[in-house]
Amino acid sequence: MNRLRSLFLIIILLFFSSWLGVVVYSYLELGHFKSVAGSDGILPPYYSGQAILGARVYAASGCMTCHTQQIRQLDVTHSDIDRKWGTRPSVALDYLRDQTAFLGKRRMGPDLSNVGSRLTDPIWYYHHLYEPDQVTPGSIMPSYRYLFHMQKIQGELSAQAIPLTGPHAPPPGYEVVPTKDAQDLVAYLLSLKHDYTLPEVSAETPSAP
Ligand code: HEC
Repeated sequence: MNRLRSLFLIIILLFFSSWLGVVVYSYLELGHFKSVAGSDGILPPYYSGQAILGARVYAASGCMTCHTQQIRQLDVTHSDIDRKWGTRPSVALDYLRDQTAFLGKRRMGPDLSNVGSRLTDPIWYYHHLYEPDQVTPGSIMPSYRYLFHMQKIQGELSAQAIPLTGPHAPPPGYEVVPTKDAQDLVAYLLSLKHDYTLPEVSAETPSAP
């Protein structure tokens, strides 16, 4: 009976200490974070409603299995800043608006923290998502064709039609256009840009050389 009671106590202690470590410690460390007033408005900026929906498509499509969203500190070799993935390391406050912070841990593809600053043309994203290999020859990124649909051209070509060529081109008289999910996803990707400075950045991390 005594041994059962000890076992029970150990289990309770284990749960309690994990709760302290995961919930309470994180809350004490990060819970007081608030947005700050920057010269161009509140920082970090809010996502648009469409970008918030796009973040859900990003999660559902598993993009974070190959892409991180964290610019590493300057002192590591082959710094992310040398790779032109960002101009400063990411800090905790950068993720204040994220319902889920897609930090990721595996980098089969480039870090996407600032992809919205690097690549600004929505059609580029649609083309790349539909057939990555046609945009970046040799790409191992899977194609996300289920985010698009083919339709008959009604009069003129739609503004969002993908300029597909060769074997991927639709039959004559047809065009491939993004679904609402693809449009939301691209709105999210375009909003990924940490091109502002936060007090936390200047206080805690050295700036880019
Ligand atoms: C199996 C791994 C893998 C998955 C999953 C994946 N990607 Fe990629 N991604 C890559 C690789 C590799 C590249 C670099 C080659 C290229 O440009 O296609 C890349 C490149 C990119 C780029 C261009 C970045 C730049 O700076 O040039 C974007 C944008 C992108 N991926 C978005 C996505 C999105 C959105 C998803 C989910 C819908 C996704 N990726 C899923 C591997 C992946």
